[in-house]
Amino acid sequence: MKDNNIIRIGLIGSGDITRFIHSPGFKLCPNVQIALACDSVQETAENTARMFEIPKVTTNYHEVLDNPEIDAVVVATPNSLHKTISIEALESGKHVLCEKPLGIDLAECNTMVEIAQKSGLVNAVSFIYRFAPAIRYLKYLIDSGALGEIRHFRAQYLQRVPDIFLGWRSKSSLAGAGGGALGDVGTHLIDFAHYLVGEIDAVSAWTKTFLPQRRVAGTNHFEDCDVDDAAGYLAEFTNGATGVFEVSRMVPEEELRKMITSMWKLTGQRVVRSIISRIHLTFRCVQDCHMMKKNWSPCRFLMLFCKFQDLRAV
Ligand SMILES: NC(=O)c1ccc[n+]([C@@H]2O[C@H](COP(=O)([O-])OP(=O)(O)OC[C@H]3O[C@@H](n4cnc5c(N)ncnc54)[C@H](O)[C@@H]3O)[C@@H](O)[C@H]2O)c1
Repeated sequence: MKDNNIIRIGLIGSGDITRFIHSPGFKLCPNVQIALACDSVQETAENTARMFEIPKVTTNYHEVLDNPEIDAVVVATPNSLHKTISIEALESGKHVLCEKPLGIDLAECNTMVEIAQKSGLVNAVSFIYRFAPAIRYLKYLIDSGALGEIRHFRAQYLQRVPDIFLGWRSKSSLAGAGGGALGDVGTHLIDFAHYLVGEIDAVSAWTKTFLPQRRVAGTNHFEDCDVDDAAGYLAEFTNGATGVFEVSRMVPEEELRKMITSMWKLTGQRVVRSIISRIHLTFRCVQDCHMMKKNWSPCRFLMLFCKFQDLRAV
């Protein structure tokens, strides 16, 4: 932070997530300025810059890291680049918000965590659902003991994605091991299972690739795809709770973008079940931000953190 308490952000990767989520979010923060949009595709950087009145663009992320005016970066590139760019950013003294999944395998993630911890800089992974009012309320209920012992956790992230080639998301070399449905959205479920219930000790899982080749949009050309279209796993948590998880990109239309999370205590207290059913309602709508207000969560859980430093909690 150089002056006037303004935090200057550099976007590295200026594609969908920076356009739909990060940039509109930063625009709501009075002490944040998006100073630089970087994308390896010039046109993408320019389009994002135009949409959000970002004064500078570049196609070379080193220009972001070498810029002394930049305080923090968002790493929102294909997954295979997260490690290199995040580590270089930390070494350049920039705070880092890295998109999920953190790395493409456990070894990469461990290295990144170690370097981030040693850096003393603020860093976070973009597991956004932790900030959804329903999840924050659920966390409060669990931590306060209101739900008693959690014995079972069940989560689904169901999508319908067009049957076309999905670019880097269809290639494990770019998206990471299991970089399909599991790596793309299953990581969110694992994150809030960790957040709400605790560490997972053991899993029994499957992944399935239904379409080993996908057509490139607008052509008759097919590309090989080696990531999963669906995954499922049974889990056992360190604290003895059990879990069932399901993710898919190929559910029928009526299930489109529906996400259901349920958690309950199996000791028969009806009051707990009725609280949880209200949480379902809220949580199922988190992908539709405008719906969040229409669903029930105590007011104080609708308020979000306002200091960047609070992200350290993630
Ligand atoms: N937190 C969430 O809920 C959420 C949701 C969607 C995507 N994501 C994550 O965000 C990341 C980006 O996803 P997206 O949907 O925006 O993909 P995208 O393909 O739309 O955007 C990625 C951008 O990175 C650019 N890029 C590639 N190499 C680069 C480099 N060396 N330097 C600078 N830019 C480079 C590409 O040109 C592209 O514009 C992924 O890691 C994805 O998993 C997270």
